[in-house]
Amino acid sequence: MATPETTLSTAAAPTRTAHRRRYLMCRPEHFTVSYKINPWMEPAKPTDTARALEQWQKLHDLYLELGHEVELIEPLPDYPDMVYTANGGFLIDGIAYGPKFRFTERAGEAPAFIQWFADNGFDVREPVETNEGEGDFLLVGDTILAGTGFRSTDDSHREVGEVFGREVVSLTLTDPRFYHLDTAIAVLDPIEGTENGGPEKANIAYLPGAFDEASQQILAERYPDAIRVADEDGAVFGLNSASDGYNVIISPRAKGFEQQLRERGYNPLTVDLSELLLGGGGIKCCTLELRGKR
Ligand code: ARG
Repeated sequence: MATPETTLSTAAAPTRTAHRRRYLMCRPEHFTVSYKINPWMEPAKPTDTARALEQWQKLHDLYLELGHEVELIEPLPDYPDMVYTANGGFLIDGIAYGPKFRFTERAGEAPAFIQWFADNGFDVREPVETNEGEGDFLLVGDTILAGTGFRSTDDSHREVGEVFGREVVSLTLTDPRFYHLDTAIAVLDPIEGTENGGPEKANIAYLPGAFDEASQQILAERYPDAIRVADEDGAVFGLNSASDGYNVIISPRAKGFEQQLRERGYNPLTVDLSELLLGGGGIKCCTLELRGKR
């Protein structure tokens, strides 16, 4: 008979299943850092566009290898940050809520994204309120987690709730290095197991120190099984990752997070986007999920 110790040590990590995703990406053909709208950006520091393209291509190709679908939007010459498509909108059930950028430097990206959604059959909702799309809105189960503090406003949280008719949970970011919600929370399993037939519960990984006290409390209560990531992994943009429910693409520098994911039965895969980090973005920032009609 198994002793309690052996029962513990042989407890297997849950079996997880990968789910097919459809993503929108933008080649960093015009990538550079020519202005500063977050603490990572240093316009005086040189950037290497060819290297950005190479690194981006690896992420793009890995998505295809994993069986995901990738759509591309044409990069605009005057918008070096357009590679970060996560900020281009927020889409659920074929409805595309458009972005309204906080800074004028990125404002011109909004019409291009909105046009792309319209051309590709999405039901577009033009925003009134300032919001930076999936950078600050994350779908977890039936709930939208919404970030504020640096970019998207509280009013946009109300607006996104009205557009999608879902519960919105507002979370306040307090550390300027983690200015978008997707730099502090990774959605590991967006769908409840009951819906997809798998064993998963909607779950997240997060960096507690990126949030104010009240938000930390909300996260601890709602997601008792969440992976809480160490500061050193958060500081290298470890949370800015993409999960399909099994494969989780993360930065090669987030060593502790990689280990935590393995222990929980996920398959961490690393892609280095060091060049794009000079603009303050990582894996998730370069990826916008296109959720069609169900
Ligand atoms: N330079 C861009 C900005 O400051 C980076 C955006 C990163 N995107 C993200 N989803 N976190 O707006």
